[in-house]
Amino acid sequence: MQLSTPHLLGIKDLTSQDIETILSTATQFKEVLQRPIKKVPSLREVTIVNLFYENSTRTRISFELAEKRLSADTINFSASGSSVSKGETLLDTVNNILSMKVDMVVMRHASSGAPHFLAKHLPNTAIINAGDGINEHPTQALLDAFSIREKIGTLEGKKIAIIGDIQHSRVAMSNIYLLKKMGAEVTVCGPPTLIPTYIRETHNIRVEYNLKKALQWCDVANVLRIQLERQNQVLFSTLREYNRVYGVTSALLNEIQKDIVILHPGPMNRGVEIDSDVADGKHSIILQQVENGVAVRMAVLYLLGGGKKTS
Ligand code: CP
Repeated sequence: MQLSTPHLLGIKDLTSQDIETILSTATQFKEVLQRPIKKVPSLREVTIVNLFYENSTRTRISFELAEKRLSADTINFSASGSSVSKGETLLDTVNNILSMKVDMVVMRHASSGAPHFLAKHLPNTAIINAGDGINEHPTQALLDAFSIREKIGTLEGKKIAIIGDIQHSRVAMSNIYLLKKMGAEVTVCGPPTLIPTYIRETHNIRVEYNLKKALQWCDVANVLRIQLERQNQVLFSTLREYNRVYGVTSALLNEIQKDIVILHPGPMNRGVEIDSDVADGKHSIILQQVENGVAVRMAVLYLLGGGKKTS
């Protein structure tokens, strides 16, 4: 099985068949991860660098674990503590690492388009985007899709609400691309200042400003964090006010009397976009998302790294 692209830069570039291939391969790897020995030799000949120019907990650990489970050799690079502080360019840094015979690059960067820049200059090295600025976070959308399918069987025809800071969210963009390609209906919900107009105009996505109505409509709610680190102006009054109007609370879920699947990509701001009793409650699949992230990233690495065998 092969993907139609040598890199994973964004869901935008994938076909629905690519997405299906990744998700079905991830199902096989999830089975591997249930075994007493959770390791396969698929990428034994492959060396991968995890290049993180921006903070991460889940994505970095998940990629590292996925690589180890596939028997790849791995190197971890963080911009802090590296020669980036001495003025070294991104391309010089990567070329130096690749000269040590590295085959694949997993990259997170605060600038949108950074992995695309690398792919343009290094066409023979598989580049995997682990989140670039406000552009895309493709493996997050893939693990979200995997987790939704695991919980409710299919994406086709399902109603998914993406709630919160859409304007600054790469998770929202990757989810929108993926869900539309896989036949789901999508609504975005949040304050008007956090929903860009191009969402409705370019992506033909339903916009709902009333959280209760969005929750009444959906089968699945993907709740996003307020990305304060990416906001350089005041876009809502206070976090307390945000929680009062757009916080997903158990009181609200009880009021609408509907079984909604709750996702959150993390990191969560408990008491802001989501209350603890919802995050930890019976509708939440937040920790299953994290668990599934390893199998999904194994699938991506395997398919792009030329893996030979899964068992
Ligand atoms: N979901 C996600 O990208 O989390 P991290 O920033 O911790 O990797």
